[in-house]
Amino acid sequence: MDHSNYTVDTLISAKSIAARVEELAAEISAAYSDTDKLVVVGLLRGSFVFIADLVRELDLPVEVDFLEASSYGDGMESSREVRILKDLRGEINGRDVLLVEDIVDTGFTLSHVIRLLQSREPRRLETIALLDKPSRREVDIRASWTGFEIPDEFVVGYGIDYAQRNRNLPFIGKVRFTE
Ligand code: IMP
Ligand code: MG
Repeated sequence: MDHSNYTVDTLISAKSIAARVEELAAEISAAYSDTDKLVVVGLLRGSFVFIADLVRELDLPVEVDFLEASSYGDGMESSREVRILKDLRGEINGRDVLLVEDIVDTGFTLSHVIRLLQSREPRRLETIALLDKPSRREVDIRASWTGFEIPDEFVVGYGIDYAQRNRNLPFIGKVRFTE
């Protein structure tokens, strides 16, 4: 099936995202005010724009690390099987960790990665997801912080792709197929 014919309609503007990122960063800075150095872990690749904006608003000493997990391939449905493609560079044992995800959809990816990181015994592990589609959930899990709850739409932009396209859009848009 060729899905190359689609348009993107704005769902969340760049301005709304920036305002929400600022609010979230203030909450996170307060929640981790007693930490020596927070390890912010971005889940590649969808979180790269969000993490870049978020860490610049954090009023804390921060380290940044990345993890890549696969669940989607290039399709629109989760495969339910999560593989680690790229592991962290640093140790998180005894550290304060914030895991940054782009979207929580079925919840398989987040729950799998949380289990993996918990097994390394961080002092504290919290999660933040820019977007949440609660109506799609199959695993009972929630991020500690959520940017926006959205309906069951396939979205792109602000780091999020459809078949590796549209990550560079400055806003979040929903994909609408034109044929
Ligand atoms: P889950 O394991 O089903 O929760 O899937 C989470 C992952 O699926 C996210 O990290 C995204 O990479 C991807 N995903 C879920 N919904 C969308 C979407 O609407 N657009 C693009 N990627 C999505
Ligand atoms: Mg992802």
